[in-house]
Amino acid sequence: MQDPILRLESSHVDVVIKTRPFAEIIYWGPHLQYFSPHDAHTLSRPVANGRLDVDSPVTLMAELGHGLFGSPGIEGHRQGLDGSPVFTTTHVQQRQDTLTITAEDAHAGLRLTSELALDASGVVVIRHGLTNLKAQAWQVDRFAVTLPVAERAREVMAFHGRWIREFQPHRVKLEHDAFVIENRRGRTSHEHFPALIAGTSSFSEMHGDVWGVHLGWSGNHRLRAEAKTDGRRYLQAEALYLPGEMALEEGETLWTPRLYASYSAQGLNGMSQQFHRYLRDNIIRFPENKPRPVHLNTWEGIYFNHDPDYIMRMADEAAALGVERFIIDDGWFKGRNDDRRALGDWYLDEEKYPHGLTPVINHVKQLGMEFGIWLEPEMINPDSDLYRAHPDWVLALPGYTQATGRHQLVLNLNIPQVFNYLVERMSWLLGEHAIDYVKWDMNRELVQPGHRGKAAADAQTHRFYRLLDVLGERFPHIEFESCSSGGGRIDYDVLTRSHRFWASDNNDALERSTIQRGMSYFFPPEVMGAHIGHHKCHATFRQHSIEFRGLTALFGHMGLELDPLTVDKHEREGYRRYTALHKQWREVIHHGTQWRVEMPDASTQVLGMVSEDKKQGLFIVSQLAMADYTLMMPLRMPGLEAGAQYHISLLDHPNIRLTGEGGHTMRTLPAWMETPQTASGEWLMQAGVALPILDPETAILIGVERV
Ligand code: DGJ
Repeated sequence: MQDPILRLESSHVDVVIKTRPFAEIIYWGPHLQYFSPHDAHTLSRPVANGRLDVDSPVTLMAELGHGLFGSPGIEGHRQGLDGSPVFTTTHVQQRQDTLTITAEDAHAGLRLTSELALDASGVVVIRHGLTNLKAQAWQVDRFAVTLPVAERAREVMAFHGRWIREFQPHRVKLEHDAFVIENRRGRTSHEHFPALIAGTSSFSEMHGDVWGVHLGWSGNHRLRAEAKTDGRRYLQAEALYLPGEMALEEGETLWTPRLYASYSAQGLNGMSQQFHRYLRDNIIRFPENKPRPVHLNTWEGIYFNHDPDYIMRMADEAAALGVERFIIDDGWFKGRNDDRRALGDWYLDEEKYPHGLTPVINHVKQLGMEFGIWLEPEMINPDSDLYRAHPDWVLALPGYTQATGRHQLVLNLNIPQVFNYLVERMSWLLGEHAIDYVKWDMNRELVQPGHRGKAAADAQTHRFYRLLDVLGERFPHIEFESCSSGGGRIDYDVLTRSHRFWASDNNDALERSTIQRGMSYFFPPEVMGAHIGHHKCHATFRQHSIEFRGLTALFGHMGLELDPLTVDKHEREGYRRYTALHKQWREVIHHGTQWRVEMPDASTQVLGMVSEDKKQGLFIVSQLAMADYTLMMPLRMPGLEAGAQYHISLLDHPNIRLTGEGGHTMRTLPAWMETPQTASGEWLMQAGVALPILDPETAILIGVERV
């Protein structure tokens, strides 16, 4: 008989599972060098007085029937019957790093299949499958992945947000009861990024135990961190079903989305580095050795005002600035002169493009750039030929009038004709034009999403995946960007079928500094679209120097979001400079290890990238507001090789004025900025380098290279 105590192990992280008679995760923490299954008996719990007379485990499926008294992992019924399943393990299979546990409740007529995989990165991936074994349908109200975390996890970090302000972290104490995130917007959402991070008190970037989870799913979701009355804690995540939305017929299986979980004993940086490694090894698909090309996207430059001759002049200028991919955004298709009409009519606007798209594409390609185009396939404007012909193609519930969002409604992808129409139109566009890249947008939330009178948000998300899969298979050379009014659809599941995210419609460098930092907890820089926008930001009307904008866009998949023909020489020189700087450091930025550095003054934000071989490091110091202190604190640079010597250089800086009229912030610069300096990695990590005093809303870039 197989030992019921099994372990998944990696170099940093282990998960120990008691598999029988029911499955229970009993340990998720640092790698255990001397583990023996026998040791697990030490955790056998006492039974408290005043409760049930038996131990109540937090099982893998967190069934209420064990006396959980918390939020269960499964809720549903068969017309009121079979509503409290309790699963008993029937089969366990361990293959290297993957464990599959099958369990059944013969009374309720349900089978549970649980898959747990621990990747070499240290990330655990879990999902459950539920199969109905009886003739009548089993109504699924909830079906979640539950992951116990250690009792020392006493704080929770989550992200709030909104359009043009994504990924804003906040914290709550986890002492009693639960903290819950619920998303009913029908897309991953700007508001409720599907992630939770639990950690020891005051966990920080470099310190503390943290247990982070992300639900890879682009639809409605619920995440929960709960402290039970007995002090045990768990994280729980699920696709959220609308009333009546999910039922399983006999023999059907429902899978939860995958939950990605990263434990780190070295604070948030360790957690993020594991997530980044996991994504790079398992999810991100990008041709090896191909650098990610620098973009110019036309949206904020010309909006709906498309004139092919002018666009070609923009392309000339873009190429001269070092841009490598030119993307035509919204406005190219029939009648699309503003955002009130034409979505769904995926035919070229021949008034704007009388000779077709091809001359523009050829021009772009002759300039040595790739070509990309914008699409929003899931949507329809009431003012469109498509809607006039097929008003019944809308995702809606009959008998209700649905509110539009950005003047548009959603197409019901569950209707085969709708799906086929989109495949046909997209295939025309992508098959008959030399397109390398698609910016796939999705600009409204789902309200009363219905198919045949029933809620259909979940099904719509699956059909969206299918549509993207079909097109991805048909056009494997094309890269897809997931955009949804900026960062409304950013998650690991959509990333399995796309290549990049548009992080935010806000190109204000100050706002971007926090948005990009928030996103960095779960995503590495190479999938984060980061563009230099206009001098005067179109989202906030704030004005920033080209230096601050350029440096802020440097640490992602960089691009320009403007019309380079209408700006002055200084601006244009800036675009050229930061494009070149990005290319120079792109390898480190897109493949290196990322470090968020905490500074004593919270108004100073530092992000570093260190190459895998630790030969190069790049650190941006952004001063977001007026500094609290008259001196900046030294920057300690993590991730270097202690014994190596590094040359330190200031790669870019705003006009640091020493003494301005009226006197400025500094009389002298830090010495290393004037005389070349080297120092050991150990010194730079432990003691650091003195920083110049920066004005608010400026940044500097420091490079270190091994000598
Ligand atoms: C919203 C996107 O986020 C923008 O970048 C732009 O593509 C517009 N849609 C176009 O309508």
